[in-house]
Amino acid sequence: MKMIKLVLSKYWRIAMLKKEIVELLNEQINKELFSAYLYLEIANYYGDEGLEGYENWFKIQALEEEDHAMLIRQYLLNNGHAIKLKAIDDPTRTFNNYKEPLEAALEHERYVTDSIHTIYSLAAELKDYRTMQFLDWFIAEQGEEETNAEENIRNYQLFEKNLYSLNKELKKREHTPPSFQLD
Ligand code: FEO
Repeated sequence: MKMIKLVLSKYWRIAMLKKEIVELLNEQINKELFSAYLYLEIANYYGDEGLEGYENWFKIQALEEEDHAMLIRQYLLNNGHAIKLKAIDDPTRTFNNYKEPLEAALEHERYVTDSIHTIYSLAAELKDYRTMQFLDWFIAEQGEEETNAEENIRNYQLFEKNLYSLNKELKKREHTPPSFQLD
């Protein structure tokens, strides 16, 4: 007789997190995926303008945003919660000069930081120490991303007259997986 091996999915777990946290984390997945869309839009703009370095930098940034979404997805699954994907907003933007996308990126990163902080505050209020620990990495990451966005603006202002070299430098950026992983 053929033996049937029953393998329970690792996602078969008792739901561990509070409903409000799960809702915010699901929304955060959407925000991270929107971030990827927005950065692709910016990459497309620079690509159209012939600035391949800036195009590359934002393409890599889009991949990083996907990584963030995937980490949150995995965290929810690991804690026994279903993922609810929602429609992603239209990222279409009109940019009038090369600096505007850089400013839009900084503004967006500040918005994402606020969003992560909101979830962290609620987790603290609910004594959800697990989610607080999970979000620690995101808080550090947001600090880094805001710094990168500020640096992009500063470098543009400083080296606008030598955009060729700056653009060449940005072309070197490569995608590296997040320093924090979840199985
Ligand atoms: Fe995932 Fe740039 O925020």
